[in-house]
Amino acid sequence: MPNAVPNAVPNAEAPAPIRVCLAGATGWAGSELARGIAHAPDLALVAAVSRTHAGRTLGDALADPRLAAPVYASAAEALDAAACDVFVEYTKPESAKGNVLAALARGAHVVIGTSGLTDADFAALDAAARAAGRGVLACGNFALTVVLLQRFAEVAARLIPQWEIIDYAHDDKPDAPSGTARELAARLARVRPPEPTVPVAQTVGERDARGATVSGSQIHSVRLPGYVVSAEIVFGMPDQRLSIRHDSGGSARPYVDGALLAIRNVSTLVGVHRGLDTVLDLERR
Ligand SMILES: NC(=O)c1ccc[n+]([C@@H]2O[C@H](COP(=O)([O-])OP(=O)(O)OC[C@H]3O[C@@H](n4cnc5c(N)ncnc54)[C@H](OP(=O)(O)O)[C@@H]3O)[C@@H](O)[C@H]2O)c1
Repeated sequence: MPNAVPNAVPNAEAPAPIRVCLAGATGWAGSELARGIAHAPDLALVAAVSRTHAGRTLGDALADPRLAAPVYASAAEALDAAACDVFVEYTKPESAKGNVLAALARGAHVVIGTSGLTDADFAALDAAARAAGRGVLACGNFALTVVLLQRFAEVAARLIPQWEIIDYAHDDKPDAPSGTARELAARLARVRPPEPTVPVAQTVGERDARGATVSGSQIHSVRLPGYVVSAEIVFGMPDQRLSIRHDSGGSARPYVDGALLAIRNVSTLVGVHRGLDTVLDLERR
């Protein structure tokens, strides 16, 4: 019997979807991103990583039948089982660097959402990424309001030489300072070093009371129930002060659009780049 419905002719114009492997796909942030990828016709989630749910599909793990990707116990297993274009790292600081190196060794570009990596970690990843000719886009925070905080702070630092950063998060966040605070400090270091009136090393009393010195900036991390994630930078001048602050709500939704943008654009990069504005043209908006 002839087929009543003609076979679909493949559209030679449509580019193949970007194949994504997502480590941390069952987590608070990763599961929301997995759903975002499932909604994006130009992206295909081909593998997921979670130790707890290895051997299942992500759809079984998250009770969402659209998520057919198999779950593997480690990044190396997932990368060996399913070829991917972009590896997304969204696990924990202790596993992030090894996962990223495994992905670069297998030729994938990498988007890092995980916080807690140090400047030294990024230097090592940059060397590996350049050797592999691949891009790594690390965003301590994918939310648009954080991208704007970073940009406004860079403008302020050009004019105001003294600032300190305060990073607030929930009580069970294990790493400090936050990825957002580290990234902000690293960006301001490229603008200028801060010029405290009393150098921190000359503190009289408890040196730790002045916070951690990260990329030249003082960062104070608050970890208490009642906070989700907030970042604040305070600039001070004689008789005047400027505070720029970001507060996130309880859902992981604000991080999805930025992460999707990073996934779509990371292949244009080589080496490590930090901050979503690397691929977000703020000037033309
Ligand atoms: N860049 C941003 O905008 C942004 C936004 C939110 C959060 N974050 C950061 O993203 C990271 C994840 O946060 P979260 O709140 O989603 O954490 P979470 O809910 O605890 O989820 C962690 C995920 O990683 C997996 N995982 C943990 N350790 C692993 C390991 N050693 N090997 C493989 N998989 C592992 C977990 O699954 P199993 O335990 O089953 O392995 C789970 O899927 C944190 O560093 C957080 O600070 C960044």
